[in-house]
Amino acid sequence: MSAHIIDGKAFAATVRAKVAGHVSRMAEEHGITPGLAVVLVGEDPASQVYVRNKGKQTVECGMASFEHKLDADTDEATLLALVERLNADPAVHGILVQLPLPAHLNSDLIINTIAPEKDVDGFHVVNVGRLGAGLKAMVPCTPLGSLMMLKDYHGDLSGKSAVVIGRSNIVGKPMAQLLLGANATPTIAHSRTPDLEGVVRQADIVVAAVGRPEMVRGDWIKPGATVIDVGINRVPAPEKGEGKHKIVGDVHFESAVEVAGAITPVPGGVGPMTIACLLANTVTAAARSANLPEPEGLTA
Ligand code: GUN
Repeated sequence: MSAHIIDGKAFAATVRAKVAGHVSRMAEEHGITPGLAVVLVGEDPASQVYVRNKGKQTVECGMASFEHKLDADTDEATLLALVERLNADPAVHGILVQLPLPAHLNSDLIINTIAPEKDVDGFHVVNVGRLGAGLKAMVPCTPLGSLMMLKDYHGDLSGKSAVVIGRSNIVGKPMAQLLLGANATPTIAHSRTPDLEGVVRQADIVVAAVGRPEMVRGDWIKPGATVIDVGINRVPAPEKGEGKHKIVGDVHFESAVEVAGAITPVPGGVGPMTIACLLANTVTAAARSANLPEPEGLTA
């Protein structure tokens, strides 16, 4: 039997609608317009596309968007001064510095200069520590979106075993923390885990975030398990014509869909949830800064 397909595109639209609802209530009742500042250094084409999409969706949800585009040779002091200025600006509730930064800039230093309460990426060490300690934090967008989809599909995650494949600071580690916070029992596995297939086969929930195209095969999956595919890999697609490419996940979809109970496709699964959760984090940051209640349905 073929798995239920978890439609991330449709789910992201519901998250954006919730964001827009919170934004209009905050404006009417409190006179606050949440604002997101995005900083882009250089001209990386993929980053330019991301930043344009973020700005467009921010405005569509009724929020203020501030874009700062700096030359590729911008020095560190200039970038740090901009971040400090945004930290101090009351119209800015969220700050995102687009990564990767040019090699001459120290990304860790720059990310850790963002005020933790405005760090809508959840990359600042204070937010990493707060998430680990089970305290209120800004949570990285991709794992937050993945958790929202899991909770929407399953309801309660108590008693579920989960395997997260990948140990990155951006996805793998925070994903495991979120699953733990939701009373699941997570294991973090990675490319050097012995018997990776056997470990994955134990899990009721599999989150694949390893960055290797179609590595997780159908026969790795426990029948009926839920599979969240975080991978976005560009691979050659000669069947579409010479020199053509396509995007695939970290899971081999055609075989996994025959075994899993539910699965996210690539594209159209986790991807659209990432920007939706960035907008959600911006509303959350604005609500917290005004001591308003946590926006319902937008946090972990
Ligand atoms: N580059 C690609 N994705 C992201 C993201 O989610 N946040 C930041 N800061 N940079 C990115």
